[in-house]
This record gives sequence, C-alpha cells and structure tokens, in this order.
Amino acid sequence: MTIDLDAFLSTGARGMRRSLIRELLKLTSRGGIISFAGGFPDPTTFPVEELQEVSRDVLADQASRALQYGITEGDVRLRDELARWMAKDGITANRDQILITNGSQQGLDIIGKVFLDPGDAIIVELPSYLAALQVFRTYGVEMVGVPQDDEGMETDRLADALAGLARQGRHPKFIYAVPDFQNPSGITWTEERRRALLQLATQYDTLVVEDNPYREIRFEGSAPPPIYALDGGARTIYLSTFSKTLAPGLRIGWMVAQEEIIAQFVTAKQGMDLCSPSFTQAIAAEMLRRDILYRRLPNIAAVYRRKRDAMLRALQREMPSGVTWTRPEGGLFLWLRLPEGMDAEALLPQAVEQERVAYVIGSGFHADGGGKHTMRLNFSYPSEDEIDEGIRRLARLIKRHLPLSTSSTAPRTTVSD
Ligand SMILES: Cc1ncc(COP(=O)(O)O)c(C=O)c1O
Repeated sequence: MTIDLDAFLSTGARGMRRSLIRELLKLTSRGGIISFAGGFPDPTTFPVEELQEVSRDVLADQASRALQYGITEGDVRLRDELARWMAKDGITANRDQILITNGSQQGLDIIGKVFLDPGDAIIVELPSYLAALQVFRTYGVEMVGVPQDDEGMETDRLADALAGLARQGRHPKFIYAVPDFQNPSGITWTEERRRALLQLATQYDTLVVEDNPYREIRFEGSAPPPIYALDGGARTIYLSTFSKTLAPGLRIGWMVAQEEIIAQFVTAKQGMDLCSPSFTQAIAAEMLRRDILYRRLPNIAAVYRRKRDAMLRALQREMPSGVTWTRPEGGLFLWLRLPEGMDAEALLPQAVEQERVAYVIGSGFHADGGGKHTMRLNFSYPSEDEIDEGIRRLARLIKRHLPLSTSSTAPRTTVSD
C-alpha cells in the first residue's frame, strides 16, 4: 500500500528543505574529488589519547553517574567548568544560566521552538549559517536579511531594516549573528559593530542570538569581546560548542542566557531528548577541569593557520583578476566572490564532474536568494596538498567561464574584502 505522505506532513515539515551541504557531501564522498564543501574539523586535531585516558577515568571513577540519565539542564560539573571557561572571554554566568545541548545546532532549534511563531520576523546576516536558516525556516518565519561587509553586519542597514519593520507595526523576535570568523564568510565583527547592534536591539527592544562556535580558533589579531559580554547578557543569548575544538562526535554544545530564558529552554529540551548524553558531558567536564582543551588550543589554531595560508597562497597564485576573497583571522572558512554575472551554482556540476572539486554555493547562505556569484570554501578538512591542487582546479574552471569583460591573461588578484 502506498500512502500520500504529503497529506500527513505538518506545515513545518512541508517547509523543510534538505541541507545543500549534506546533499553535496554525499556527492563528494566519491573518490578523487577534492572537497572544500563540508565544515569538518581536521581529524588530526582530535584529542584521541586524552579522550582515551579521560574516558577510562570517568568509567573507573563515576560510571554510575556517567552512564545514567542526567538532568535536562546538563551535568552540574560541566556547567560549572563552562562558567569558568567562559569567564576568560568576559562572559559572566552561573550554572543556572547555562543549558547543555546536543551540539549548538540543537540550541538553534530550541530557540525556534521557544520564540518563533509562523509569520514572525527575524533578522539574519547576508550571508548567514545555512543550517540556522534551515531551522528558522521550519518555524515559518520571515527572515529579513541585512548585508555584511568586512567589519560585520552593516549596522546602518540594520537600522533601516528595523525601522522598516517598525513602520509595518512588526517587531522582530531576534537578530541572529555569528560574529567571530563567521560561517560562511570568515568575517569577524568589529567591537564598534557589536556595540551598534546592541544599541539598536535595545532601541527596538529585540533579542540578539550570538552563535559563536569558532571564537577559540584565532590565528592572529586581537579578539573583540563577545556580544554577550558587552551587554552582560541583558538581551543576548549565547551559543557555543566543543565541535570545533574537541570533536563534533561528542555532540556537546551549550547556551547561555538569563535564568528565566534558560528555564524556558529547559522545558523545550525536555520533550526533545530528556537530557544530553551524560557520558560525553562527564568527559567534556574532565577535559576542561584538567585544562586539556586550554593547552591544545594553540596547536589547533596552528594547524588551521597553515591551511588557511595554503589556501590564500593558492588563491593569490591561481585566481584571475576580478575574483576576490576574504582573509579570515581564524575559523574554518573563507568566502570567494566571482565577478558579477557569474553563477556559482551553474558552475558546480562542472566543478564536481569535470574538475573534481567541490564548494558550497553562496546563494544557500542568503535568506533573500542572492549571492549567486559567491561560494564558501572550507580549508580545515583538506590537506595542504589538496588545497593547492583543488584551488588550481577551481581557478581553471573559473577562467574558462569568465565573462569577456573581466578575463585577463595576466592572473592578477584583488584580495580586497
Ligand atoms: C555557525 C554555526 N552554528 C552552529 C553549528 C552547529 O555545530 P554543532 O551542532 O556541531 O555544535 C555550526 C557548525 O558548523 C556552525 O557553523
């Protein structure tokens, strides 16, 4: 018997779209393809030996707790360690202001569940993290995109967007920002932009969702304070994760907010999974308590710095005039802009089939469907040799398709934004 699945689906499920990245990853698992598409950490950064030792100790010393159900809020020791960990960034929070989640991705879904009704407006960056857009879309909201330059979200454009919504009598629920080494662009917001954002959020009485998985992976430059630290958490909800610093397989993320907001989040999470895995929480708490993560961070940053440099060098060498890219001071991604009029999506099948190189099309990260001439390149997963060869292949493809007005025999590259 066949069923008409559509007739059974909720409105939210009908609005769900499969992630472009996941679909692409399937394609690129075929041999010979160099993939700049995923967002995977380099497995050589995983603290395998330390995890072996800590797991053994957790099982020896606290098996009955670590293998049992836990409370929805999360392991008390882990939350206390996290409070200590975040203090170095000026984030002051007690354990009741912290909720442990299954990766920060679950935090985004909890935010959707707790705050969003169909028809609500929220503000997102152009471009913005694809899987957050995917979650928020499920809740039937209107996403108002505000462009970004190399200092972060353009806050004068944000002011226009907020004023425009206010004129329509609409009140956006929150502004979603990835201010450090953004996924996808690699851009870091300046402190001025962070302050301007908070000033506007206060003026228009909206919340700020600060999603910050990459903050710890800084290669150079000095770190502006987290948005949360600048307003003392008055209207900011902070999300972070161990996915990029310890290992994504642990699935440990966390949220920080005022106690009454966290209490709402806890209620929402109860129905989702009762609790996050006690075992990996106990391990993560030990990794923090023994300062293992703290000691490893410089090595992780060094690995990714080398890979970023390899990608920047290859781009500089290979790309024709008219192609520009960002120069991230940390994180896992950079953002490439083709000359206007070129279409990264139209090129992708040839990139994969002919040149055997993959990237993520920029339009997927644009809530307004724009960014057709852009793409995200990941430098954390491929090896330095693969980066070299992959950029060579990508440049060859781009050169073949350059509009006549921008093609040039002498490869000259603008590393502007
Ligand atoms: C901006 C951003 N937020 C959230 C996540 C989700 O991370 P996780 O669920 O592994 O903690 C990612 C992962 O790539 C990300 O880039």
